Amino acid sequence: MTTPLMTARDLRVRFELPAQGLFQKPRVLQAVSGVDFTLMPGETLGVVGESGSGKSTLARALIGLVPASGHAVWQDGTNLIGLSPRRMLKYRSEIQMVFQDPLASLDPRMTVGQIIAEPLLTHRKDLGRDEIRLRVKDMMDRVGLLPNQINRYPHEFSGGQCQRIGIARALIVEPKLVICDEPVSALDVSIQAQVINLLGDLQRDLGLALIFIAHDLSVVKHISDRVLVMYLGRVMELAEAEALYADPRHPYTQALLSAVPVPDPVLERAKRIIPLRGELPSPMNPPSGCVFRTRCPRAEALCATERPELQGGGHLTACHFPGALRPEELSKAG
Ligand SMILES: Nc1ncnc2c1ncn2[C@@H]1O[C@H](COP(=O)(O)OP(=O)(O)OP(=O)(O)O)[C@@H](O)[C@H]1O
Ligand SMILES: [Mg+2]
Repeated sequence: MTTPLMTARDLRVRFELPAQGLFQKPRVLQAVSGVDFTLMPGETLGVVGESGSGKSTLARALIGLVPASGHAVWQDGTNLIGLSPRRMLKYRSEIQMVFQDPLASLDPRMTVGQIIAEPLLTHRKDLGRDEIRLRVKDMMDRVGLLPNQINRYPHEFSGGQCQRIGIARALIVEPKLVICDEPVSALDVSIQAQVINLLGDLQRDLGLALIFIAHDLSVVKHISDRVLVMYLGRVMELAEAEALYADPRHPYTQALLSAVPVPDPVLERAKRIIPLRGELPSPMNPPSGCVFRTRCPRAEALCATERPELQGGGHLTACHFPGALRPEELSKAG
């Protein structure tokens, strides 16, 4: 059997927020509450959930940018959680990140060549200037940038091109895993597909694993091998992409999927969007039992008292009553 590239077990991130009043205690915000997943080499895991569900915090925890507890065990057996910055450095070349806002994540005072070369200067001190220049130009070509633009500055590029620069910079050190945190959310819809396709092509050509974070299930549909659905810092459902889209078992996944537009106008008109009741609860004060129960059309007394475990063989669901919502439950949701 192949060893997973990464195995996350009971991963948790809590933020302590300052007390509001003089005599109040500091408040605790649990942004990630016991996340488990495995990632195989070369696999693409889509991570989806509403704003505030903890997707970015999860990503940041995996590369040591926020303090976390639990396990994120790398292929070589090392738990990346809690590693010293010095020991983490080795893994920082194997795990790279691509961020949401392409222009803001690039230093405006550096040329494209300098930006893309920077990780090589940190991680590959053995390489000479000419070799670095060669690799940068080759990478620019791979991501669809013109190598003769190597001396240009980020502001001279469009949003989509800036994201290509960010991707080139992430790939230049030949990582095994690239974590893309909403890499296309800030781009025009027409450009989004180009960047997603580029990531998919590079992933196949280079044998990379990807963790691809998005708000929306439609964005990760075609690129993901498996999809993880997050809500309030917890995993609600984790399954092969095909199974998840064809047979979503968690009511939250069903609600998210119902909001995805269907290309066929007839089907689109006939479609029933499952509205979620109320607001997203605060992660500072999450509901007891199942964290989704306050918005779930199927919630029963048990859901308030017992937290459902993530279970179910290959198609994992954290729900006491998984399965397709019935028509009467749909009307309860509205
Ligand atoms: N540095 C921080 N200090 C305190 N709270 C934080 C910090 N970073 C994130 N949070 C909180 O943790 C929770 C999860 O945030 P996170 O940014 O991970 O969500 P997200 O799923 O990435 O959302 P979005 O889709 O908006 O990017 C939120 O309630 C957020 O306010
Ligand atoms: Mg985020």
